[in-house]
Amino acid sequence: MRARGGKDLYRQAAEVLASRRNAVALTGAGISVESGIPAFRGSQGMWERFDPAEYATIGAFLENPAKVWEMLSEMLDLLVRASPNPAHRGLAEMERMGILRSVITQNVDGLHQSAGSRKVIEYHGNPLELVCIHCWKRYPSLEKIGERIPPRCACGKILKPDIVFFGEPIPWIAQEDSETEARECSVLLVVGTSAQVMPASGIPRIAKEHGAFIIEINPEETSLTEKITDIHLQGRASLAMERLMETLRNGAA
Ligand code: OAD
Repeated sequence: MRARGGKDLYRQAAEVLASRRNAVALTGAGISVESGIPAFRGSQGMWERFDPAEYATIGAFLENPAKVWEMLSEMLDLLVRASPNPAHRGLAEMERMGILRSVITQNVDGLHQSAGSRKVIEYHGNPLELVCIHCWKRYPSLEKIGERIPPRCACGKILKPDIVFFGEPIPWIAQEDSETEARECSVLLVVGTSAQVMPASGIPRIAKEHGAFIIEINPEETSLTEKITDIHLQGRASLAMERLMETLRNGAA
């Protein structure tokens, strides 16, 4: 049952984190909004400008790679210029405090690593590598983008960023590791995800079924809030994480 009031929710969340430790974070696009990267859904979201059926499926990519690469190069441009915000830094600090064991992220922006998080599971891949759709040769993306769009392999075929398009499987190791983390954690901190995209959206349920306490940080309610979430810290990720970290530093830890 979700906590709505009473004893300060930040204090309750900090106490649960400090006493149980063994926490895992699941993050989505919302955690990077304050780093200047738009989320996918909602009025300011990427999918308002780019229809996912035309830009985000593997079928669309294979049919018209040049068109999809236009969106991808705009996205990569934004990602390489973005810096971590207090929410990313808070999770990295929580790991250093010995409270957080890993971050499972649906994001492909690398901001958790830039903030200092060491164990990051990239559930939807990493666009800093490109892979040939024909011979599977790999290239660092920064080397290839800027040459021309769409970038091509030495074999002449199109390169794809190593991210998961709709219709593609989750990288096997990322999925296995995430499910293990979900089963074994005592607290799951869910930050900035609408939890609408499977299989990532199933991770909170796995954690809950294995006894984890679920803390959600999101300005909105999501499909998790009513039935899965134990404490909803309603607010933007950076402010909520700053407040949570302050509470942890001041004694709950
Ligand atoms: P969404 O765009 O679906 O959801 C973003 C969530 O962040 C929403 O619940 C917002 O309320 C919340 N949010 C917005 N601003 C926030 C802020 N400042 N602080 C905290 N939360 C905020 O993004 P995801 O759930 O990450 O997949 O989307 C999941 C997947 O759908 C993505 O990884 C991507 C997309 O299609 C693929 O491309 C395979």
